[in-house]
Amino acid sequence: MTPSPLADLSAQTSELLSTIASLATLDELTEAEPRLTGKRSLLSTLQKSLGSLEPNARKDAGALLQEARREVQAAFEARRSTLAAAARAESLEADRLDLGDVVTNSVRWPVRAGHPGLVASTQRELEDVFVGMGFTVADGPEVESDWYNFEALNIPPAHPARGLWDTFYVDLGEPETVVLRTHTSPTQVHLMEEAVAKGSLPIHSVMPGRCFRRDTPDARHLATFHQIEGLVVDRGIAFADLAGVIETFTRAYFGPDIASRLRPAFFPFTEPSAEFEVTCTICRGEGCRTCSQTGWIELGGCGMLDPAVLSAVGIDGDEWSGFAFGFGIDRCAQMRHQIPDMRALIDNDTRFLEQFS
Ligand code: DAH
Repeated sequence: MTPSPLADLSAQTSELLSTIASLATLDELTEAEPRLTGKRSLLSTLQKSLGSLEPNARKDAGALLQEARREVQAAFEARRSTLAAAARAESLEADRLDLGDVVTNSVRWPVRAGHPGLVASTQRELEDVFVGMGFTVADGPEVESDWYNFEALNIPPAHPARGLWDTFYVDLGEPETVVLRTHTSPTQVHLMEEAVAKGSLPIHSVMPGRCFRRDTPDARHLATFHQIEGLVVDRGIAFADLAGVIETFTRAYFGPDIASRLRPAFFPFTEPSAEFEVTCTICRGEGCRTCSQTGWIELGGCGMLDPAVLSAVGIDGDEWSGFAFGFGIDRCAQMRHQIPDMRALIDNDTRFLEQFS
């Protein structure tokens, strides 16, 4: 009787299982796969040899072999998933960001801190000057109704002065047209209304903020720009008080060799009105291209509060009087630092910005 081809099956199976258990990496496993479970594997070879057996014996042997195959295949797959899990854990560990090392080492030291832009720092300096003169600082909305931006300031709907302040309107339908404020003057109206409601007159305030006009930017204009508004409402205020405040401010901010002057002008919300000019800082008054050879640069407007404005907010013009002024913060920065083109303020060119850190 020829010995059964499966005589050593159990020992052979154990050996296969221990070989599988000894596979240490996915690469080794892949490499061993044909040898352990493929068509040329020991078990496949044994399968072929069963052909020489009697049908009954073949059936029994086939079942045994099938069982051994299942056991080996299961062990192989189990080993595959164990090794795959280990490989994944290892790669996660390798890819983990070491916060104490990789990230901090990639930051260049010393870290450069940012700083306020020139417009923001100019605004603060202007506020400082006025606070030093006894003013408080107030804030107003950048989006206004037609009433605050125009009508309460004595600029009725068809008034030609509206052309000076052509702006961005947002049509929300009746009853109110909304505008991006064209100047900081509407904040005067808010402040006076508030003081009337609270019974807290007098007012000595400055109101800095962003304004918008439908202007094409050029060397001296931006469509989004900044103004600082001043408002004094008190008893017995005269034009000399206004002129004194403007002159004191000019010397405090620009230095003792820069003077101010007031020239007659028209604004609907002041009477009399004046344009406020300072010595050109570029030529120091000699005359140059920037000041059109006049030696003076216009900073803003001012005047005594028009009785129509006082009555629009319910202030008794017989008891109270006052003045207002408004001028460009960007223009001040430009004059103080002799910046030929105002558009540099919004270009975000760090070579420019870093000069003011
Ligand atoms: N709001 C004016 C403008 O934007 C400037 C101005 C003029 C403000 C006279 C005032 C003022 O407060 O009294 O051109």
